[in-house]
Amino acid sequence: MRVLLTGAGGQLGYALQASCPQGVELIATDLAQLDLSDPAACRRIVHELRPDWLLNGGAYTAVDQAEQQPELAEAVNAGAPRAFAEALADLGSGRLLQISTDFVFSGQQGHPYGPQDPVAPLGVYGATKARGEAAVLELLGPERACVLRTSWLYGPVGKNFCLTMLRLHRERPELGVVADQVGCPTHTAGLAAACWAVIAKGVGGLQQWSDAGAASWYDFAVAIGEEAQALGLLERQAQVKPLTTAEYPTPAQRPAYSLMDCRASREALGLAPLHWRQGLRQVLAAIASQ
Ligand SMILES: NC(=O)c1ccc[n+]([C@@H]2O[C@H](COP(=O)([O-])OP(=O)(O)OC[C@H]3O[C@@H](n4cnc5c(N)ncnc54)[C@H](OP(=O)(O)O)[C@@H]3O)[C@@H](O)[C@H]2O)c1
Repeated sequence: MRVLLTGAGGQLGYALQASCPQGVELIATDLAQLDLSDPAACRRIVHELRPDWLLNGGAYTAVDQAEQQPELAEAVNAGAPRAFAEALADLGSGRLLQISTDFVFSGQQGHPYGPQDPVAPLGVYGATKARGEAAVLELLGPERACVLRTSWLYGPVGKNFCLTMLRLHRERPELGVVADQVGCPTHTAGLAAACWAVIAKGVGGLQQWSDAGAASWYDFAVAIGEEAQALGLLERQAQVKPLTTAEYPTPAQRPAYSLMDCRASREALGLAPLHWRQGLRQVLAAIASQ
């Protein structure tokens, strides 16, 4: 089976390549091979390679910067998935796995979001990702498109909250972290396993995958310090102070409560998630062994 991957240089791309199943011919691309902001190039590569699956893991993921670069975010997060879906529809073969985000939700619901709950993104990043979701499902239908939403993604490589907090625990005696935004940290290896299960089982439609449990960014930062010190990655932990969102303003507004109900997807994929804290231990162990 031929799988064309975008975003190979990103943190999910790294985990997908590390866990590629036997029998999959993986064609891994990043910006150097394919610019996702160029829809003609996106259509061309599909026609050239005729993949059985296109795993669109590439994205414009800088949530705050997207507020200043809405056109580029739109092109990468909505234009590329649309172009891929158009090309696959033209070909009449091949399926698309589009990775999406809990930031398509407003965070005001107060209980976990199901896959069919209405999207109401608060910022440019979430809005562009929501348009990407809609485009692929509209053009290919759930028979040939799977949208897999995830949340608070982090792994041992790349840019993410866990690696930033590890550095700050080392550098500072004290740090302030937002305690009134709740979601679920998700380790990249678990999401990569879910992606490969989508492909192996031919799952389609709107799906959601996060690790199990819930946390605020503050909880996550405290846990990173505790687990990293237990593993010998840190000599000491910084004192973590809880902040409100109002005390830590950012250019993009973020959902206050973006937990997702992933039960149906777990069943469809035949996978049980790790609790996020177990996922954290795995990621920190991988960092320790680097
Ligand atoms: N990170 C999160 O917390 C999170 C949460 C929920 C959902 N997601 C979704 O999960 C997926 C994977 O995210 P991730 O955290 O692995 O992202 P990431 O580490 O930022 O990787 C994204 C990849 O896309 C590439 N890319 C960006 N613009 C491109 C362009 N114009 N052409 C080609 N490639 C381009 C990036 O290349 P450069 O490094 O060269 O820019 C990078 O390799 C994305 O769909 C994201 O929206 C992420």
